[in-house]
Amino acid sequence: MTHFDTVDFYTDKELVENPYPYFEYLRSQGPIARLPQRNVLAVTGYAEALEIVNDPKTFSSANSATGPIPELPFEPEGDDIQEQLDAHRDEMLATGLVVAKDGKEHADHRSLMMNLFTPTRLKANEEYMWNLTDTLIGNFVDQGHCDLITDYATPFATLVIADLLGIPENDRITFCEKLGPPPGAVGEDVSYEDSQVLGMSFLFEYFGEYLAERRENSKGDILSQFAQAKFPDGSTPEVGDLVWISAFLFGAGQDTTARLLGACLRTLCEIPELQEQVRNDRSLIPAFIDEVVRYDGPVKCAHRLAVKTTTIGGVEIKAGTHIALLYGACNRDPREFEAPDQVILNRPNARKHLGFGRGVHTCAGMPLAKAEVTASLNRILDRMKDIKLSEEHHGQPGKQRFTYEPIYTLRALKNLHIEFTPVS
Ligand code: HEM
Repeated sequence: MTHFDTVDFYTDKELVENPYPYFEYLRSQGPIARLPQRNVLAVTGYAEALEIVNDPKTFSSANSATGPIPELPFEPEGDDIQEQLDAHRDEMLATGLVVAKDGKEHADHRSLMMNLFTPTRLKANEEYMWNLTDTLIGNFVDQGHCDLITDYATPFATLVIADLLGIPENDRITFCEKLGPPPGAVGEDVSYEDSQVLGMSFLFEYFGEYLAERRENSKGDILSQFAQAKFPDGSTPEVGDLVWISAFLFGAGQDTTARLLGACLRTLCEIPELQEQVRNDRSLIPAFIDEVVRYDGPVKCAHRLAVKTTTIGGVEIKAGTHIALLYGACNRDPREFEAPDQVILNRPNARKHLGFGRGVHTCAGMPLAKAEVTASLNRILDRMKDIKLSEEHHGQPGKQRFTYEPIYTLRALKNLHIEFTPVS
């Protein structure tokens, strides 16, 4: 594609398979570039993105998950739109999500959510995930091939969060079947009323009933403890607040982790020497995971809304402008990462990437995601040798094709067909 100047990042499906050339085109216009079709400034510069995420008073997260679609329900006026935003926030899509909250309300909701990530709970969850990885691999390993995304990564990530939240075993399969797509479908025309875009309507119903019931009659399980949780000042949250948190943990933690596993395996297949290196020295797995998150991580972008007129990197940003934080591009900023288009395990600044965000909204599930991918990679490498991409599905080396979900917020491999020699 050569006409990047006419491309709309939010609707053009040609960018889905490989967004990186477009990101480089944007970078050639400076670290903050205006997208001509919308009231959006796109950030490809690492330092500029960091400045923005570290200033939540100037840059609201109200549009974090959705960006400029749908448009704001008000016409921004003047150099400070805080009052307008406060007046219209409830009309905006998905502002109940913790990732879209600001200030004290965000801190309160984040602390509520952290009740679920206690060390004891995480330890029990980790034991569950190591057993689960064996069970799922056992379903297909003898065939010598699988679609890593549908046969392994998606059920794995879904079941791990179901376990973390204490969803009864009998309901977990229903969760795997019913979960819809995450927000941000490329080219979707979304209205404020259209909550389907979040793919979460089923979750809202489910958790609504569950948590309301457990608030009345505690059953001593994890969801009951969560139903009784308090805000840091001792006040009691609405059941609706807890429902948003529970549902978001699925939205935020399921697809991202599954697609990171896909990206890790794609990388190991494309660089066989690296596959052998990691197979022979498992202590490299944490560095490998961080490098894949930097090089081809699952979150392509998050958004912010400029609440006050300001200047970043010499560019004036008017209040009311949407900011697309293109984390996938910032992580390849050559001013920050040497040879950014290469996978290099021992980068001195390997963990400085923005793949899990930064600042007050840094990914709350990062340790969980890393634990999930570590367990999976270890067991996959234990039980499968000579893992290769299937030529039948992806084509011959050098001409391979991959299908990604058409979502502008996520970099989500739809399928990854691999072949391997089973290890008994
Ligand atoms: C590879 C996997 C994952 C990646 C790459 C990832 C990435 C991110 C990013 C980039 C953000 C920041 C969004 C922003 O700047 O507005 C974020 C926030 C968040 N993530 Fe993750 N995430 C992953 C897995 C998970 C998991 C497993 C969970 C939980 C089960 C989770 C829960 C959250 C939550 C709750 C937030 C919002 C935090 C807040 O607003 O305070 N994530 N994640």
